[in-house]
Amino acid sequence: MKSNDWDVLISSVQIQEAIRKLGAELTEIYSGKKIVVIPLLKGGFMFAADLVRSMGIDLQIEFLGAASYGEQTRSSGEVRLTLDTTLPLADRDVLLVEDIVDTGLTLAYIQQLIRSRNPASLRTVVLLDKKTRRQVDVDLHECVFSIPDRFVFGYGLDSPGGFGRNLPDIVALKD
Ligand code: IMP
Repeated sequence: MKSNDWDVLISSVQIQEAIRKLGAELTEIYSGKKIVVIPLLKGGFMFAADLVRSMGIDLQIEFLGAASYGEQTRSSGEVRLTLDTTLPLADRDVLLVEDIVDTGLTLAYIQQLIRSRNPASLRTVVLLDKKTRRQVDVDLHECVFSIPDRFVFGYGLDSPGGFGRNLPDIVALKD
């Protein structure tokens, strides 16, 4: 894919500035606590890597992986767990970090899975929200950017061909 196939929707400068702000807010919210941060793979890895470095508290990191079957630019809502945590989550303060919420089906599935393990608390932060596409209600504590219904990639998210996760900006495919 060539750079004239997409538009920059959110620049790396805007992303980094917003994440520094969110990191400072979370540092205050979790002050004095030892939390478990769970990036949801694959797309959440880059957001989580920057977010944890902007948080000045003790934390552990676990990973969950999810994938949904579907067409290249639309998820089917049928979610598969591709990677599970290794530490027990019972009585822990859990911060789930996700790249994008579209229909909400992936997040609803993952939140239900985490809640079934009886954490002391669960907070979900999401980088991108495609609000107009929501099919189920999900608890979003912080959403960094609301975006229109366009297929986006970069900054951890992949393009239909599976590439593009390493772009520093979030870009949208031209129609
Ligand atoms: P949902 O279950 O429909 O909310 O979809 C969430 C998942 O679909 C995300 O974790 C992404 O992996 C993927 N996804 C949804 N929209 C996009 C997009 O615009 N670009 C890349 N991945 C997307």
